[in-house]
Amino acid sequence: MPGDKAQLLSAQALRTESSPINYLMALAFERPDAISLAAGFVDNESLPVTEMLACCREMLSDPAAARAALQYGTTQGHRPLRERLIRRLVDREGPAGEGMALDADHVVLTSGSQQMLFLICSVLLDPDDIVLLPRPAYFVFMDTLRVFGARTLGIDMDAEGLRADHLDRRLTELDRAGELGRVKFLYVCSYCDNPTGLTLSASRRRELMEVVARWRRRQQFYVLEDAAYRDLVYDAQTVIPSLKSLDRGNASVIYLETFSKPLAPGLKTGYGILPTSLVAPVLDQKGSHDFGSANLCQHLICRLLDSGRADEHLRQLHAAYRPKRDALLGALDREMSGLAGVSWTRPLGGLYVWLTLPTRINTDLDGPLFKRCLDKGVLYVPGSACYQGEPGFDAPRNHIRLSFGVPTPDENREGVRRLAQALREEMA
Ligand SMILES: Cc1ncc(COP(=O)(O)O)c(C=O)c1O
Repeated sequence: MPGDKAQLLSAQALRTESSPINYLMALAFERPDAISLAAGFVDNESLPVTEMLACCREMLSDPAAARAALQYGTTQGHRPLRERLIRRLVDREGPAGEGMALDADHVVLTSGSQQMLFLICSVLLDPDDIVLLPRPAYFVFMDTLRVFGARTLGIDMDAEGLRADHLDRRLTELDRAGELGRVKFLYVCSYCDNPTGLTLSASRRRELMEVVARWRRRQQFYVLEDAAYRDLVYDAQTVIPSLKSLDRGNASVIYLETFSKPLAPGLKTGYGILPTSLVAPVLDQKGSHDFGSANLCQHLICRLLDSGRADEHLRQLHAAYRPKRDALLGALDREMSGLAGVSWTRPLGGLYVWLTLPTRINTDLDGPLFKRCLDKGVLYVPGSACYQGEPGFDAPRNHIRLSFGVPTPDENREGVRRLAQALREEMA
């Protein structure tokens, strides 16, 4: 009963809601016959079983190494791994990596990057503080922001990602309203975004950071760069320097990555590379959370990286995902190009494609299109799950997030065929 709940639970717990995604996940289990273009899981077949077995064998057959891994570690995480992660970051930046003012002391390993998202909120946010968020945005993080009672303001996106001009306008409006001081950070998913699949273009990265630098002279706030899908840019030769590489003094960008996508979600290990000012507050929070994430996983990941197995695995992963993405995009081209008002993104990698339908089509879970899709045996994430309620903004209901990582290429094609059929019926 709500009354009982209110008596015992904290305001924070009462602000926390169950995500519509839980329903979708339950539905995928109930309907094993349906093709799920909804789940953001990674491809099961390509999980690194042999690579992991080899690393476990090596580690556990060396008693000293085994004991070190089986013992508690530090709150900040395994130092050799943190050192390697800095070298790895700098290598992937290309020329932009030169002179980045970073070292292992700026890295904090966490239980998935989700824990770092939570910790960042807990060190920066009081209720009613403002977070600037892409429209649309990663829905789990929107739930996290709700836990902390943050006010979210949306920044629009276009084909190049988050719009710098809209960010500038938002900050101007907040300044006029005397609320600039409440802005704590701007969240950006900078590579193969969840949910749109878009990667911020190089010029947009520079524009965004110019706007940020200009406003930060007036009022300090951070950029939270979520690079969860950076390793899943399928063309590994494409160098796209991070927003972090544009933060020369390591003062403004909080950089996040995870091993869930490029290695295995079961490791539930991620990390943040933090501005110097945030390292101690984050470590203090983490100390009271769990005083360190699973040490065994960190030692294993370090071996996977040191031995070159992680990079080899990444090449295989790209080879597994590329045909899935291409199958989905090819099917969209075939099935939907002729449909007026229908368009979709063409991601460089990652797991998602964002589909836009005519505004009169409602894609919600309780809408007619979802029901038709369920009847035909295909599941998707309604786009409205990726928009936060915001005064003066009517969240669109005509988008869909499609995820191509789990189904085979054939299933991706068949899923789109069913979806297109449902859509044609709905449009007629
Ligand atoms: C954009 C984004 N950030 C962060 C995460 C968190 O992942 P994990 O906690 O497994 O590292 C996810 C998971 O899907 C994600 O899509």
